[in-house]
Amino acid sequence: MKVLIHQTQTTAADCVAGLFADRLMQKPDTVLGLATGGTMEAVYKRLIARHQNAAVSFSKAQSFNLDEYVGLAPDHPCSYWHYMREKLFNHVDFDSDRTFLPHGDAPDAEAEAARYEAAIVGAGDIGLQLLGLGANGHIGFNEPTSSLVSHTRIKTLTRSTREANARYFDAFDDVPRLAITMGIGTIMRADEIVLLAFGAGKADVVAKMIEGPVSAACPASILQMHRKVTVVLDEAAASGLA
Ligand code: F6R
Repeated sequence: MKVLIHQTQTTAADCVAGLFADRLMQKPDTVLGLATGGTMEAVYKRLIARHQNAAVSFSKAQSFNLDEYVGLAPDHPCSYWHYMREKLFNHVDFDSDRTFLPHGDAPDAEAEAARYEAAIVGAGDIGLQLLGLGANGHIGFNEPTSSLVSHTRIKTLTRSTREANARYFDAFDDVPRLAITMGIGTIMRADEIVLLAFGAGKADVVAKMIEGPVSAACPASILQMHRKVTVVLDEAAASGLA
């Protein structure tokens, strides 16, 4: 695991956008694994800017997002489909037939999860996976105690995750209780992983992820076992490291 500590969130986000752009230059048809959440917004802004300067193209790439809320249709304003259109897809040159998220409104969510896993396998698995980090150690929506070899499936969100994400909804009770998420095994098959975390609020979990035992109690700790992971932090998020 390579750990890069930046003085500020700005330079940390620049670094992640740079890693993404480099990979796309080297391999324009990379299968990208994408994340949502507050942390990623800074990365997507920078990728849009690079695209506008003709420094990066997504035209040959394809993407699979980590997760989606069960029950939210792609046009729901709090869906991750909506987030991705607003924050990235509408502003760059992805082929819209090659950007994928689970369908939260599928009539059979379990079948949808299985279909999504098969689609990732069919694409040859993820080439470059972008991850954020939940304050409870989740990656994707693989909450603590998730199987470390899991595939895409339905997970029940913890109260703390629902509270953290309530800022996107009108009320806490509107935050869905279930999500379809890539599994930890799905994520670990990625050729390369880049995780970005900002802020003092993530310092404890960052230390557990990097220095703690590999344990389902902190799902992100499994990244210690991946052969090509870069963790990009600002100084505040790194402040709990030994
Ligand atoms: C989002 C996702 C989550 C977030 C994590 C951090 O698709 O899979 O794991 O990356 O909850 O979210 P923020 O960046 O909002 O702190």
